[in-house]
Amino acid sequence: MDIFRIEGPVQFSGSVSINGSKNASLPIMAAAILAAGKSVIKAVPHLSDISVFSRLLGRLGCKVTRSRNGDLCIDSTVVDNPIGEYEIVRRMRASICILGPLLARCGRAEVSMPGGCAIGDRPVDIHLRGLRELGAKIHLKNGYIVAEAPHGLTGKDIFMGGPFGSTVLGTANVLMAATLAKGKTIIESAACEPEVADLANCLNKMGAKITGIGSPRLTIEGVRQLQPAEHQVIPDRIEAGTFMAAAAITASELRIQNCRFDDMMAVVDRLRNIGVTVDAANNGCVVTRSGSIKPADITTQPYPGFPTDLQAQFMTLLSLAEGNSVVIEKVFPDRFMHVAELNRMAANLRKEGPTVIVAGVKKLIAAPVMASDLRASAALVLAGLAAEGTTTIQRVYHIDRGYEKIEERLNPLGAKITRQSI
Ligand code: EPZ
Repeated sequence: MDIFRIEGPVQFSGSVSINGSKNASLPIMAAAILAAGKSVIKAVPHLSDISVFSRLLGRLGCKVTRSRNGDLCIDSTVVDNPIGEYEIVRRMRASICILGPLLARCGRAEVSMPGGCAIGDRPVDIHLRGLRELGAKIHLKNGYIVAEAPHGLTGKDIFMGGPFGSTVLGTANVLMAATLAKGKTIIESAACEPEVADLANCLNKMGAKITGIGSPRLTIEGVRQLQPAEHQVIPDRIEAGTFMAAAAITASELRIQNCRFDDMMAVVDRLRNIGVTVDAANNGCVVTRSGSIKPADITTQPYPGFPTDLQAQFMTLLSLAEGNSVVIEKVFPDRFMHVAELNRMAANLRKEGPTVIVAGVKKLIAAPVMASDLRASAALVLAGLAAEGTTTIQRVYHIDRGYEKIEERLNPLGAKITRQSI
């Protein structure tokens, strides 16, 4: 098991280029199931989540390889074992997004129920509602979702909204299934995240007929067959936002390249509200913080609202603000595993249900802390960059799920992070 030792406080300078999006890559990898043959996905980051998903596709019958230039090649000529095993799904809830494509390709699928995780329950009721609307017969057996559509799927008008708004992977599952359904499907209250739009654009390259991409209403004209395609995934806006917060918390100037500025408006709005300068530059932006950190209120919402995946990182930044901030988590109300760990570093955070009152403190103090989930772990790295002393973070594997060798990206900018195996 690896730990990080992080010396602080540090300042950054220079530039960083953003990798391809993990959350665009995973559903696009699943989409390869829909078209027998060899698909090539470019800019897929080298992350443990991608490796786990590649292994899952292998269990289905696909052949997944990385070419020398880093492209991910998925040969889905054979998909003869439509089963998403618990042993894999329990480690990565995003595995659920094989359900829709398996149902459309094979007419049946058995996928383990994802179960909960550190950020809260991960229900899939809306996924199942949408697939049932397309004509699938679905029941639960020994913790597995058993879905059957032996005579294929039929297009339908489907409302996909839930108590927390839209669902990203629920939209992906139903969207992928609908591409091969007979007739037209309308998905109302579809997720508008850029990663869903990227999936839809990839599906259209495969021969799907999807309109309304990027809007809450997707219209899909079913087709008989899809063809394998080549697609480059979009840059990772959550990684970009994490680096923006890192520049802000270390009072640095940082150039962030290969970042789609338009995908980041809610994040840029909050940074500017906090007193951070963010200037658009070609193919990215420059983030500068020279003055104090101003308090700001943040409420997470589905896109285009402030992303829940940056809530923990921005809470760390606000913990050093000159005044009190309020952070409200409206997507995953329990997503606060980082609060107790940040308080151990002398932050002053008080949780009241889905709300955290952030009373700004003058400084954070290094301490031994424990990573718990991907984004909470990134928040602890940011805290270590600003805290006085040496912060040690255990269970670094959580960070490796979503950030490619983060210490090798941050150290050239000025960070002092060492990874140790214990
Ligand atoms: C995706 O998860 C992302 N994962 C998450 O990123 C992200 O936090 C989340 O979307 C929200 O943006 C990937 O794309 C691989 P949801 P997903 O379904 O699709 C409720 C990261 O750190 N809900 O949009 O699983 C659910 O409980 C990860 O990279 C239902 O009630 O999230 C939540 O409150 C973490 N019923 C809300 O909707 C359902 O059937 C949004 O969840 C489905 C979801």
